[in-house]
Amino acid sequence: MNNTICTALNQQINKEFFSSYLYLSMAAFFENQNLKGFANWMRVQAKEENDHAMGLYNHLLERGGKVELGEIKKPSTDFKDILNIFEETLIHEQNITKKIHELYELSTTEKDFALQSFLKWYVDEQVEEEANAQELIDKVKILGGKGEALYLLDRELSARVYVPATILTK
Ligand code: FEO
Repeated sequence: MNNTICTALNQQINKEFFSSYLYLSMAAFFENQNLKGFANWMRVQAKEENDHAMGLYNHLLERGGKVELGEIKKPSTDFKDILNIFEETLIHEQNITKKIHELYELSTTEKDFALQSFLKWYVDEQVEEEANAQELIDKVKILGGKGEALYLLDRELSARVYVPATILTK
């Protein structure tokens, strides 16, 4: 595995850990508002991000690359409201999608086809990540962020359970 790819993968590991941090910060915001279902959704999301980072970490090691963990940036703690949080989530995921696509492109230019095959899982996962955030934006907009509708949405989101990412189990 060449240095360019090694550096790019280490950078992506950092971004995935930052994603986990960001969603934990959002979970704490919801928890403080007593929105336990929303907080649960974000806690599960944070665990999934940890898996995304570990998938890349494992791939680097498997290929004889050097893992270099960097500092994790401080996530925001100032969130306006529920809609704002899911809009920020979508923007963040769009940014991650861009980074995954750049990595995929790099695997082509560097002719690293093992990496390219591995990254397909991430390309597909990002489609789901963006769709999930968009769905929540739409639901909050349709139902409104108050009263009984908020209670019902919170209850729906409390049902989300963490399942280890298949990139770690296959
Ligand atoms: Fe690891 Fe939410 O993408």
